[in-house]
Amino acid sequence: MTAAPRIVEVGGGVPYRIAIGPGLLADGAALAGHVRGRHVLLVSDSTVAPLYVATVREALHAARPDLLVGTFVLPAGESSKTLANFGAAIEAMATLGATRDACIFALGGGVVGDLAGFAAACWMRGVDCVQLPTTLLSMVDSSVGGKTAVDIAQGKNLVGAFHPPRAVFADTSTLRTLPARELRAGLAEVIKYGALGDPGLFHWLEAERERLLAGDEAALAQAIASSCEHKAAIVERDPLERGERALLNLGHTFGHAIETEQGYGSPHNANLNHGEAVAVGMVLAARLSAGLGIAEAADADRLASLLGAYGLPTTLPSGLTPAALLARMRLDKKNLAGRLRLVLWRGIGRAEVVPDVDESAVLAVLSG
Ligand code: NAD
Ligand code: GLY
Repeated sequence: MTAAPRIVEVGGGVPYRIAIGPGLLADGAALAGHVRGRHVLLVSDSTVAPLYVATVREALHAARPDLLVGTFVLPAGESSKTLANFGAAIEAMATLGATRDACIFALGGGVVGDLAGFAAACWMRGVDCVQLPTTLLSMVDSSVGGKTAVDIAQGKNLVGAFHPPRAVFADTSTLRTLPARELRAGLAEVIKYGALGDPGLFHWLEAERERLLAGDEAALAQAIASSCEHKAAIVERDPLERGERALLNLGHTFGHAIETEQGYGSPHNANLNHGEAVAVGMVLAARLSAGLGIAEAADADRLASLLGAYGLPTTLPSGLTPAALLARMRLDKKNLAGRLRLVLWRGIGRAEVVPDVDESAVLAVLSG
């Protein structure tokens, strides 16, 4: 018999549950329990769909034979998180004949989750979405909190909506097929939670590196639960990012600039993926903080060393120019009144939002 899943509750105005454990995609009764009407659109990508769509379809069908289940599959990779594919997902809802009680199931990583969530936010002004994350990154971060979006050429996640899911099912057995590089990308976001607010988690990550990188399921489940607890606590207090939620963006202003400037990652190019770009971004934010005199250089070195030990990049990839990256950073969603507003770092477990950061200091860090 499989053990009961771990549950993390997300409170606030729109409460929901995150279930974490193996085999959840086959639990048709639990999945179908969130479908109010008859229509389900299963959104996935070209790598995940052949692995897991049949399991979810069969589970739903067994629990609710009356459901009309459509499938919409994106090409795998960040370069699919586009307005055009968002439009195609909306067309798929229309073809299905989905009414306002329909439910979109997002089966995949953060790319699928963000695009499917945005389609759910917009179809008929908003239908239910259930997140079924299959990457570590989406289990620890993107499936929780209701941020949905697509990218445009000018920047990441610039078009989107806040639309909390009805439920999240993180089936940890899907991590068995996840490539090692994608596992490391997810661990970058786990390190982020330690770096921004939890020294105990940071130390645990220093100690448990071998088990986590080896894919030890108990260690990964612990990392997912800790991360979701951190994120849940913040998003239930600040769901729309009016304040402290911005701390979850440690490293992201630099990271998003890198992703946009590289032209977004895909399984077919060597560009950094999101977790890798965030890893570099966290080191740049820490080095900037040290340069501005609010953090110790030794702490920045310790963060870089932990990320490096997890096989993550810690310096800018070649071919990117500092001025171009700074220009990308000017279009970040945290900025106000045309001024750079960044998440900076006072040391392990202590991030803070700093308005009006001096651009010349940023340029100096980008120039190495
Ligand atoms: P992703 O969705 O591109 O998945 C990474 C790769 O892993 C893809 O090629 C995918 O096909 C493959 N894959 C997924 N699950 C698999 C499995 N179980 N087995 C084998 N292969 C599998 O990327 P990601 O890292 O999951 O998510 C990154 C995206 O998430 C970015 O667009 C980022 O902006 C977004 N994000 C959003 C939030 C949020 O709060 N909404 C937070 C963090 C990141
Ligand atoms: N990943 C940042 C946030 O959800 O706010």
